Amino acid sequence: LLSGDDARYLEFALDLAEKAKGYTSPNPLVGAVVVRKGRILGEGWHAGPGCDHAEIAAIRDALRRKGRKAHAFESVLDAGAVRSVCAGSSMYVTLEPCCTVGRTPPCTTALVGGGFVRIVVGAIDPSPGVDGRGIQLLRAAGIPVELADGPLAHRAKRQNDGLRKSVRRGVPFVTYKYAMSLDGRVATDSGDSCWISSTESRDLVHRWRAWSDAVVVGAGTLARDDPRLTARGVECAQQPLRVVVGRRLDIRRGCALFQSADDGPVLAVVGKDLPPEVREILEGLGAETAVIPEDPSGELDPAEVCRLLAARHVQTVLLEGGPTIAGAWWRAGMIDKIAGFISPRILGGLEHRGPLLGPGAAGVHDGTGLREVEIARVGPDVLVTGYREGPF
Ligand SMILES: NC(=O)c1ccc[n+]([C@@H]2O[C@H](COP(=O)([O-])OP(=O)(O)OC[C@H]3O[C@@H](n4cnc5c(N)ncnc54)[C@H](OP(=O)(O)O)[C@@H]3O)[C@@H](O)[C@H]2O)c1
Repeated sequence: LLSGDDARYLEFALDLAEKAKGYTSPNPLVGAVVVRKGRILGEGWHAGPGCDHAEIAAIRDALRRKGRKAHAFESVLDAGAVRSVCAGSSMYVTLEPCCTVGRTPPCTTALVGGGFVRIVVGAIDPSPGVDGRGIQLLRAAGIPVELADGPLAHRAKRQNDGLRKSVRRGVPFVTYKYAMSLDGRVATDSGDSCWISSTESRDLVHRWRAWSDAVVVGAGTLARDDPRLTARGVECAQQPLRVVVGRRLDIRRGCALFQSADDGPVLAVVGKDLPPEVREILEGLGAETAVIPEDPSGELDPAEVCRLLAARHVQTVLLEGGPTIAGAWWRAGMIDKIAGFISPRILGGLEHRGPLLGPGAAGVHDGTGLREVEIARVGPDVLVTGYREGPF
């Protein structure tokens, strides 16, 4: 485990990384702190594609604090100037420093050239070309590198769940969010579900939409609820890709989504039997369509949908239901995290209206116990979250 001071600085770097939540995709969240003899010289985070990597932002902050104004604006930092301010420092960075030339020079070069004497890293960067090589390169240059373990390492990995899952498995990280009554129903027998959860819970969901690369619903929810699926009333750098999945889309209703194509991208993932005239109407409204194959049960294959989204650089998906698509995605192993809002409201009814429809566990012991479970109050609702697996 890291020492108390190491843990404190790394935790601070993890907090800094969160400042850019919703702004960095497809890049990761990363924070960094430059420390010498118990003093923070500079702090920074990656603000989004095309912006400085966190280590460079922290170095630049250190230069700025020393009054080196010119260097604050140069795109490539002068190693001599960095050394004059940072030599003998430690760098705490939440994700392994990059060693590849992208839009910017490798961060490892800046760290070696800048005279850093120790690097503390939160988690390995799984990206191709990095994946441990950044650390190797620093060690080969004679700089001791410490890789976090325990709860901070866990937090560092979780911070970039989307990147890790898409690099390691080729599909996005999927969170299934639903709202249910205390008696376990996501809709009344007539199909009404607006709104089971409170305004506070719905505001939180808008924030999650803004942080997600894509929001997905099945054709049934589109037809019944006519949602727009945009992030509204919250800070939103970029609207998520709004996706509806169904072999045949009934677009007599479900028009709010397609008629709001100007608000952000819309993708209809459909089957090969979708009538060409429907496809033309959708594309005429500004939506994109993609045809995918069916699985052996004749339904649109969840893994294929996820691979299609990954190919469009979608790393995080907020699956908003309903129970039919969610049940299929759960059984296909595509759901990584559950976020269930439980409202203190009783709906009753004759139909099965649970959040996951389809064949379930044979016995209670065959069910899936979630990990890292958290329980929170959101207005009058209770929010329970948990993961299916550990971090990737
Ligand atoms: N409380 C909540 O959080 C919440 C959230 C959402 C919806 N709802 C409620 O849920 C109800 C709608 O439920 P629903 O189950 O019909 O909606 P759904 O799951 O959104 O849509 C079902 C449709 O999704 C398509 N689909 C795509 N991939 C599939 C797959 N692999 N397997 C099976 N189907 C797939 C199918 O359309 P095709 O047959 O055309 O392929 C299927 O008929 C509404 O009453 C709505 O208000 C509640």
